[in-house]
Amino acid sequence: MTSTKSLQQWFRHTTTPFIANAPMFGSADYNLAAAVTKAGGLEATQLIKLNEQLGKARSELGSIPSLTSLPIGVGFITFNPTGFIQNAIPVLQSHRVAGIWLSFPKSDEDHLPIIAAIKKARAEGDWDVRVFVQVGTIQAARVAVQQGADVLVVQGSDAGGHQWAQGASLISLLPEVRDMLQEMGASDVALLGAGGIVDGRGCVAALGLGADGVVMGTRFLVTAECPAPFTFKQAILSGSDGGVSTVKSTRHDVFQSTDVFPRQYDGRAIIGLSYSESQLGASDEDVIQRYKEAMANGEDHRRTVWAGSSIGSIKELVSVSELIQGIQREVRSTLASLAQRMQ
Ligand SMILES: Cc1cc2nc3c(=O)[nH]c(=O)nc-3n(C[C@H](O)[C@H](O)[C@H](O)COP(=O)(O)O)c2cc1C
Repeated sequence: MTSTKSLQQWFRHTTTPFIANAPMFGSADYNLAAAVTKAGGLEATQLIKLNEQLGKARSELGSIPSLTSLPIGVGFITFNPTGFIQNAIPVLQSHRVAGIWLSFPKSDEDHLPIIAAIKKARAEGDWDVRVFVQVGTIQAARVAVQQGADVLVVQGSDAGGHQWAQGASLISLLPEVRDMLQEMGASDVALLGAGGIVDGRGCVAALGLGADGVVMGTRFLVTAECPAPFTFKQAILSGSDGGVSTVKSTRHDVFQSTDVFPRQYDGRAIIGLSYSESQLGASDEDVIQRYKEAMANGEDHRRTVWAGSSIGSIKELVSVSELIQGIQREVRSTLASLAQRMQ
């Protein structure tokens, strides 16, 4: 695959296989971003206080000359893109971020002006930025390529967090997107697999299905550097049988009064108290009220723990560098043992 080379050329600090951390609203910050970058991966963090967090990321990474790209990516949820071009792009350009990650547009056309504006800024200024677009269907992948995405993040339905309500898992999705890229003559577009990858075995599977690298979200939640509450990390560590203990639904957002995503998206999370009570017949009104009361008392136990269906294979809390290096070692040993078994 030609684009494996491109990823390492575009993001020179990264090691092989390419591993990126997903942007995770509320659970990824400059500190996690810097840790992933230092370990040879790429973080696409969802930054709220953009300017401040990017400044902190640059100082955390130290010794990067001001005219050199900041080797992190920034994620944006784009279903309400008002002001993005005017407000966000100049800040991203001034910090020279290496990647901009776009997810969850309201309609197919929404990313077109954004990608065009980023590419215009890239062409005019000395800014080596790449556009990542997260897609969960073949149609979304085709549109993203036509609109000029540099990197497609192919998100399968095992993923934690928000995703296409109707979409396939990576085993169906990735090969079909890879073939589509070939048919479109777009083999310079890099492909990353996301959704249910938590270790070297998943990474090898994604590479075998046509990915040039992988993205992990849920696995990075259970790292020392991740700012997510410890109770979330514990819930993931104690979880198993993710096909049963997590569920894809729009209800998680309803219970937290965050039901703002367009209807083509839902989200996968651990089945918690709110979801269970609702299944047993509690009204939405009651469940939302109990959630609000718990939050007002400073209690976490009703909050949605967004997580993918591979939680059963996450066994310990580790540092980001241990995680990335361990996965890269496991990829090599898995490939070697597969090669041996094929002889
Ligand atoms: C806690 C959490 C928050 C997430 N938030 C975002 C987000 O803000 N933007 C986004 O594009 N994707 C988000 N995602 C989805 C990821 O981009 C990615 O597709 C997913 O984590 C991959 O599956 P995995 O969790 O099984 O590794 C989130 C995922 C999780 C687990």
